[in-house]
Parts: sequence; structure tokens; C-alpha cells
Amino acid sequence: MTNANDIIKQSEEILVNTYNSQPVVMDHGQGSYAYDSEGKKYLDFAAGIAVASLGHAHPKMLETINKQAARMMTCQASYATAEKLEAAQIIVDNSCFDLVYFANSGTEAVEAALKCARKWAYENKSKSANEIITFKNAFHGRTYGSASITDKRRTQAFFEPYLDGVHFAEFNDSASVNSLINDNTAAIIVEPVQGEGGLEPANAFFLAELRKLCDKNNICLIFDEIQAGMGRLGTFFAYQAFNIDGTIIEPDIACIAKGMGGGFPVGAMVAKKPYGAAITVGTHGTTYGGNPLACAVAATVMGEILSDGFLDHVNKVSSYLVDGLQKIQAASGKITDIRGKGLMIGIDTIFDIKELLRALQDNGLMATQAGKATLRLTPPLNVTMEDAQQALITINKTLNEMK
Ligand SMILES: Cc1ncc(COP(=O)(O)O)c(C=O)c1O
Repeated sequence: MTNANDIIKQSEEILVNTYNSQPVVMDHGQGSYAYDSEGKKYLDFAAGIAVASLGHAHPKMLETINKQAARMMTCQASYATAEKLEAAQIIVDNSCFDLVYFANSGTEAVEAALKCARKWAYENKSKSANEIITFKNAFHGRTYGSASITDKRRTQAFFEPYLDGVHFAEFNDSASVNSLINDNTAAIIVEPVQGEGGLEPANAFFLAELRKLCDKNNICLIFDEIQAGMGRLGTFFAYQAFNIDGTIIEPDIACIAKGMGGGFPVGAMVAKKPYGAAITVGTHGTTYGGNPLACAVAATVMGEILSDGFLDHVNKVSSYLVDGLQKIQAASGKITDIRGKGLMIGIDTIFDIKELLRALQDNGLMATQAGKATLRLTPPLNVTMEDAQQALITINKTLNEMK
């Protein structure tokens, strides 16, 4: 049998080099645990970066996948199917949105949102209204449209020319947004919690100001909830976690993916009617989007997230983890900041992030890096209290061992 080092080495030789290789080969998962090819067990607080919302090998997901794969995996996108309708209905019944466009990934959901908002603005504002306001430290994906509104474009000149008419405002600073608005502004796109940028939550007043600016200037407000949505903030949609005196701040369009499929590749752009209706036959689409298998899995995962007590559990585990981390911070002096929202938690420490991640991995905890040096915890949403406690024990032990 090929050993782990050979698999890593041979993979490096034939795969395009998009990520730094990890020193172990992942083999399988069960619940909140992942196992490498040598049989070592890891508590998976990465969850594929906020993807495995129900953990690994969830029995309901397995049942749906098996049944639906045997029934029908694919059919031409122009056909209605009961599975597509069910998944869309769950979204519409539990949000402020009226229309759903299924895609296969986060970046595709963002592309759909950009096209939708620009066509809406072309038809409802003016033919030259095509500008987009995004934010410093934003991440929206890696295709040309989504990369064009991602902060990193400013350091990747080798991909130019990017999309024109994109402006970067300061996050959580509505005055900075206001100064960039002009007659050609079509849309503002914002992450309710900046994920890749370093787990920075938007504040509710800022989001409320964005809503007002969009209403006043006839601009489409897009929330990129790809990382923060689908239960991760303790609400079904991320926007539902932000309110001013009980009034929730609603976007016009939202992008979802990641946790929506629990590991099965699926995403969606969801929109209020006037915006979603801008996409018409022949203006957008995708071969795989809305396929019966993806939609059946998404319906199962979303149904589970919306089941009784599930979101309460997310909020309870979140408070438990933040409380525990604050205690570790006070006792060890090695944590410099804790931030985030729900089960999207960022921790800054006095240590080099790569070394910290390696040490945590050696001690059996998988996590990820966000921003320049932030430790990101995005466990499965159904992680047990016992496993959350185990994560705190491992983080404390690792911080104490590191010099
Ligand atoms: C906020 C946000 N938007 C978009 C994306 C892109 O999603 P995908 O990697 O599925 O294309 C991500 C992925 O990390 C994300 O976190």
C-alpha cells in the first residue's frame, strides 16, 4: 500500500499547486472527528472551513445521498423536480427572499449575484449603473467576477485586467461607503462576518446604515453569507443574526454555499423578487446547478439545521467556547484577541499561526488560518458539549506547551 509520504509527494507532482501541503493524508470522518491514513484521530474544528455543518457521515445525509443517487442524480436544468422545489421552498419559507438560483459553489453564487445586481441596475437605474462597492479584507471567491471584488486583487496584478468599476470601502465604516457612492453604483456586497479576512463581525449599526444608503440611492444590497450563513451564526441565514431594536436588517440578495450542503457541493443566490427577476431565460444558468442529488442533500441538511433545538445548540456551544477561551486568555496571557460570532470564532495569539496550527494538529485538533495570523474555529454545528470541552483542553494544553 502507498504510504502517506508517497501520496503527498506524488500529489505534489501531479496536482496544480493551489495550497501548501499538509503533512498528513486525510482518510475518513465520523461525526466531529476526522482520521488520517495512519489512523490518527483529529477533532475537526475546521470542518472543511465551515462546510461539514452536520459533521462527517451524518446518517440522514447518507440516507438521502444513497436514495437519491439511485433515483436520479442529474437531469437537464430546464426540468422541474420535486427535490429542487423542496430545497427552494425551505429557503423561501425561512427567509425574506422570494427567488432561488442554485449553483455548485460559493464563487458561482457570487457571480450570479453580481450579474443579477448589474442587470437589475441596468434596467432599473441607468445603463451605466454597473459599479460595485466591496470592502477591504473582503473575500468573495476566485473566479474573475468574485476575485475582482476580493481585496486580494490588489496584490495579484498578474491577473489584470479585473472587472472595472469596483471600489473598496473600509469595513464597519458607513462614511467610507457613502463617499464611494455615485449615480453608477449598482450594488454593495458585504460579508456579515468577514471570514477569510480574519473573523471580523460587521456591527448591526453599520449594516443598518448600509441598508439606508441602498434605499436612499437605489442600490442593491448583497450579503455574502457563504461562510457565515446556514446556521453558523446561530440563525438560519446570517442576516437574521443582526437587528436594531428587534428589527432585522434584510439584504436584497444573499449568497449561500458551504454549510448548506454539509460537504456536498452546492450553493445558491437567493433574492427578493425585483432583483432575482432581473435574471431571465438565456442570461444565466449552469449545467449542474439545481441537480436532484444536490438539492435533495441540501434539503436534508437545511431541514436538520431548522429542526427543533438545533440553532439553540449552536448558540449554547458558541457561548461555552467563547467563555472557555476567555478563561484560557486570562490564565495564559497567550491569547491577544477573541472575536467572531456564533460558531465562527477567531483567536489571535502571541505565536506564529503556522506553528500553532501544526502544534494543534499534533495534539489532535484541526483548525484553519484566517487573515494574516488568526486561528479560526468553525466546528460542525452539531458538535457536542463534550467535544467542545475537549477542544478547549487541547487549545489550553497546546498554548502552554508552546514557547
Ligand atoms: C465569504 C465567502 N465568499 C465566497 C467564498 C467562495 O466559495 P467557494 O470556495 O465555494 O467558491 C468563500 C469561501 O471561502 C467565502 O468564505
